[in-house]
Order: sequence, then structure tokens, then C-alpha cells
Amino acid sequence: MVNSYTGLSRHYDLIMTSGYYDYDDYARTLASVLKGRREVLELGVGTGLVCERLLALGEPPGLSLTGIDHTEEMLVQARRRLAGSVRLVRQDVLQMAIPPTFDAAFSVGGIWFYIHDQHAVEDVFCSHLLNEEDNVLALRNLHAAMKPGGLLALASQGPHHSYERDLPGGLVYAQDVRAAAGDRFVKDYYVRSHDEVVAHQRCEFRLFAREQATRLLEHCGFRFEGTAADGLFRLYARLP
Ligand SMILES: C[S@@+](CC[C@H](N)C(=O)[O-])C[C@H]1O[C@@H](n2cnc3c(N)ncnc32)[C@H](O)[C@@H]1O
Repeated sequence: MVNSYTGLSRHYDLIMTSGYYDYDDYARTLASVLKGRREVLELGVGTGLVCERLLALGEPPGLSLTGIDHTEEMLVQARRRLAGSVRLVRQDVLQMAIPPTFDAAFSVGGIWFYIHDQHAVEDVFCSHLLNEEDNVLALRNLHAAMKPGGLLALASQGPHHSYERDLPGGLVYAQDVRAAAGDRFVKDYYVRSHDEVVAHQRCEFRLFAREQATRLLEHCGFRFEGTAADGLFRLYARLP
């Protein structure tokens, strides 16, 4: 399986909720851009941290969430966290075959995301899927799963660089990021305890310049509509 999160899953929540992402901010912005859309899909739901925050807001009323992910170890935690309040499906987006059900879909660091670097000219589209053909297939699967006029919201996050920092409990988190051939980068995640590596995961990501991404998304039936006011999500309309 390409880019499984099995290696990091045991420490994922600790890393992400101690300064990596601000899930409350993502949830608040999502609730505002959903504008009453109720049937919503999260792409790469992971351990369910975004869904949990979104449900806690109670907005929009009657929200019905589905999350897909291909890493069972992440879903085990999501099931525990969300206790039946979100439909969770073990599913690789490349094999997703759902009839037009969703009013909206979103991804926060999931299958797709944007990287915003204040020193760069423009945001870059980033994918867990490494080939253009796979991105086309997955976006078409998503298009088929959404209703016409539906909203696709892709989160923006900061640039990936190498660093290390302390985690609660005497652990250390380190990430090592390097460029790779073919518009890709490789990221190694490590968790260490007393200098011993207790978790390691390697992911590879494919980058697309913004124009290239706009063409790719349009080709698959998603038109860029704008950016959320606080810049946290880029928004696309699902075309008929
Ligand atoms: C960085 S995590 C984000 C999880 C969650 N959205 C969050 O904000 O914490 C990326 C997730 O995408 C999932 N993922 C990556 N590629 C996938 C694919 N092809 N199909 C389904 N899920 C995938 C991984 O298993 C992982 O749980």
C-alpha cells in the first residue's frame, strides 16, 4: 500500500495535537464554508481528529459525516474516538466506487492538500498519490461520489522541512524531508525515546504547481471557486 500510516499510527495523535495542526481552526473554517451542506465526506480521515472537532461545533445542523482511509491502524483509533457518530470505511481512494451521495468533501492533510509557503510565489498542490494517472483516477472516483454543485475543500498547511522537537512523555519527534526525482519529496517521520527509534514511517508525496493542479482538477470535474477567508482551505465546485 502506498503511503500507509501504520508506522506512525500509535504516536499520530500525540504528534498532531502538540503543535503540528490546529484542528479547531480547520473545523471552524470548514463549518463556515460548508454552508448547510449535510452529507460530507472526509478523504483520509486518519484517527478522526477533524471529524471530532467538526461534530463538537454542531454546525451545520444535521451534519452526516463519512470518512475513508486505507490505513486500518488509523481507523481503529477513529472508531474508538467517534463511537459510531461517523461512518468510517476502510477504503483506498483509488478503489472508491460510491454513487453520487455527498454534498461536500474535504481533506486536511489527507489524500490531497496545499502547501502554503509565505516565501514562495504561490501555493503548491500536494498528493499522497504519486502518479498523474492515479490522481486522475482518484479525482474521478471522488467526482462520481459527489452530487453536482458539491463543494470540495482542500486544506492548506505550512511548508515541510526537517526539524525535531520534544513531545510530551519524554519522547522526541523528528522529520526529515528531502526532494526526490519527478516532482516528489520524501518525508521520514521518527519518534525517539532515549535516543532509540520507537516509530518510523516514510511517505512520498507528489507536487503539482498551482496551474498544473488547476488543470488536473478541472479535467476531473472540479472548478476552482476561491479560498476560504482565512486561507485555510481552497474551494472547488463539483461540475455536472
Ligand atoms: C496526514 S494523515 C491525515 C489524517 C487526518 N485527516 C488528520 O487531519 O489528522 C493522512 C491520511 O491519509 C490516508 N491516506 C493516504 N493515502 C490514501 C489513499 N490512497 N486512500 C485512502 N487514504 C489514504 C493515510 O492513511 C492517513 O491516515
